[in-house]
Amino acid sequence: MTEQAVRTVIMVSGSGTNLQAIIDAAVPEIDIVAVVSDNPGAYGLQRAQDAGIAGVTVDYKSYENRADFDQALLETIQQIDPELIVLAGFMRILDDALVNAYTGRMLNIHPSLLPDYPGLNTYQRALDAGESHHGTTVHFVIPELDAGPAVLQYRVAITPDDTAETLAARVQQGEYQIYPLAIARVASGQLQMRDGVVLCNDEPMVQPDVIDESNASPAA
Ligand code: GRF
Repeated sequence: MTEQAVRTVIMVSGSGTNLQAIIDAAVPEIDIVAVVSDNPGAYGLQRAQDAGIAGVTVDYKSYENRADFDQALLETIQQIDPELIVLAGFMRILDDALVNAYTGRMLNIHPSLLPDYPGLNTYQRALDAGESHHGTTVHFVIPELDAGPAVLQYRVAITPDDTAETLAARVQQGEYQIYPLAIARVASGQLQMRDGVVLCNDEPMVQPDVIDESNASPAA
């Protein structure tokens, strides 16, 4: 990508705490040109407004079928013409046409240490399975759900007292640290996806960097 701030769209469906963390981090490598939501009631739209960022709604409920919604969303994004799309709690599965139009230029954050636990309810599933650790992953988006290559991960130890709620709270603190960092690395061109592989400074990255909760800066 360019050395100028990368035109970035952030897509949200709900509370937008990750959006807030990205706004607050003031990542110099990006210019957030719009926040797009499928849900007119998303608090993330309020956060955008409070930050002086344009909010755009493509209301899922106002379309007769999935194909019409997908088309409207694609056209909306094409009109904004971002260089990077950041999914931050966008709860609809994106149409392949949109994903393929932004190969290597679309990121998501998923609350598990991918490739473990794609899909929903990851906290409870990790607890039920007796895992020692859980976490969250920033990854490039490919058409297959939660399957794109990982860019950066945050890892927390599960304690005997953890519930899905306490675990989620700790993992989400990690999300607020790693998402701005991952966005900066991709927007600067340090990390790229080519042929489904993440390159770091043009060299294949075998494993994503992992930030462990025990080493993370509390102020970050
Ligand atoms: C995040 O925890 C992320 O892992 C998942 O959706 C959640 C969105 O939360 N993809 P918020 O809207 O950023 O508060």
